[in-house]
Amino acid sequence: MESVSGTAHENVVILDYGSQYTQLIARRVREQRVFCEILPFGAGLQEIVRRKPSGIILSGGPDSVYESGAPGLDREILHLGMPILGICYGMQLLAHGLGGEVAATGRREYGHAEIDITGPSVLLKGLSRRERVWMSHGDETRRQPPEFDVSATTASGGIAAFENPGRRIFAIGFHPEVAHTPRGVEVLRNFLFAVCGCRGDWTMKGFAEEAVARIRDQVGERGRVLCGLSGGVDSSVAAFLIHRAIGDRLISLFIDTGLLRKDEARHVLSMFREKFHLPVRHRDAGDRFLQGLAGLDDPEAKRRIIGETFIRVFEEEAGEAAASGPQAQFLGQGTIYPDLIESRSVKGPSVTIKTHHNVGGLPEKMSLRLVEPLKDLFKDEVRALGRNLGLDEDLVRRHPFPGPGLAVRILGEVTAERVRLLQEADAIFIEEIRRANLYDGIAQAFAVLLPVRSVGVMGDLRTYENVLALRAVDTADFMTAEWSRLPYDLLARSSSRIVNEVRGINRVVYDVSSKPPSTIEWE
Ligand code: XMP
Repeated sequence: MESVSGTAHENVVILDYGSQYTQLIARRVREQRVFCEILPFGAGLQEIVRRKPSGIILSGGPDSVYESGAPGLDREILHLGMPILGICYGMQLLAHGLGGEVAATGRREYGHAEIDITGPSVLLKGLSRRERVWMSHGDETRRQPPEFDVSATTASGGIAAFENPGRRIFAIGFHPEVAHTPRGVEVLRNFLFAVCGCRGDWTMKGFAEEAVARIRDQVGERGRVLCGLSGGVDSSVAAFLIHRAIGDRLISLFIDTGLLRKDEARHVLSMFREKFHLPVRHRDAGDRFLQGLAGLDDPEAKRRIIGETFIRVFEEEAGEAAASGPQAQFLGQGTIYPDLIESRSVKGPSVTIKTHHNVGGLPEKMSLRLVEPLKDLFKDEVRALGRNLGLDEDLVRRHPFPGPGLAVRILGEVTAERVRLLQEADAIFIEEIRRANLYDGIAQAFAVLLPVRSVGVMGDLRTYENVLALRAVDTADFMTAEWSRLPYDLLARSSSRIVNEVRGINRVVYDVSSKPPSTIEWE
């Protein structure tokens, strides 16, 4: 079966109606080794059909099927004969579209609930008579569509699931994809394997081989690819794959913005050059970036100037590379799946809270075509692929790092001295986390230099110096996050070492905010 991304896998299509959990559905499906793609709900019948999906999942969403302008369901989809699973809003769409009855409750909240399985069910097979689930209380299905059976009810007797196995259409009013529904994965498995007949044949090794073949196909016998390395997992894995596909026709550029973590530039270069013998052009552009940032304290202005400077330096460097050899026609990028999804969510990028800098604008400007071998993968899948390619475990596990680097972790103006302070303090914090064996369990940890000075005392002297915040978060998707409950001892050691070893910082605080309402980064 040929899907759009050129893979010969079975494929499930998830139509996104705007639920915060849509990506999670995709992850759960892929954990079952079934490849799936998220499409905006309005993708159109053709887009769906040409993927030849084994099944279609309608996600939840914040709307009410009765609101004017509420996202709808193309009825043709119901007649394709393909298996369909509607989740929450997806359930209401099915109820509404197939002749059942939906009642608006005016409420919209999430919560734990219990459901009772009321009879034999293909979708809920194997579950106990009573199950804990995570429900979204929005509209309610009052009556199931004709020829459909209710398979589960809520404590108050409402309809929690209905199905017609003959037509292979199923609906549930709870979220099987979240951990709060302990047996949700079984429900998804029933849909994928018992209903859709999937085999679960999607593996990383297979993916790597196909990706290499696809790159060769796209780039051709003579094409050359330029690839910017940032030292992060995504760009490294992308470069490795491309290198495997086309060897020396890959030109890797490492632009050191001077805003990286302590010693990071050195590590990246030595790993690529010495360990993997992958030639890399290195440009130390720290001064350029600092000049551009001088006098700026607005976060978006800082991001903008970094993006622009990056593009300029990259162009210069690419020009120099071209002067000593043939020109590149392609730009390799480590774009991953969530990057794409976030930039084309249902109703446009829902709200742009921050503009994420990913060398935007470069390909058009240099008239390069994009090679994005990771665009179908989630972060943990990229890590698995990295391991598969033999990358250093250290690199594969490294916490994500924002494109604009330390510039968005230095609140206010960025100066060489402040970069140095932050690098030192951050390195100590990370070292202590590693020593406590907690690094891999934390999704992201870092230090933030605040534009605040406070009074302290050192020996007999009064000090008036910088305040540093430590941040560590637990999250699977970076869209929501909890602050990590780090042991007090670890915080105490980090704080005391930072204040003692980094001259210029006399106070350390720990950030205890979750996302939302805060974000992970401070700018
Ligand atoms: P926020 O702060 O938005 O962060 O909660 C979510 C994740 O995104 C990373 N991040 C960025 N990555 N360019 C990037 O490439 C950026 O401008 C940027 N801002 C935030 C952040 O480190 C976290 O992993």
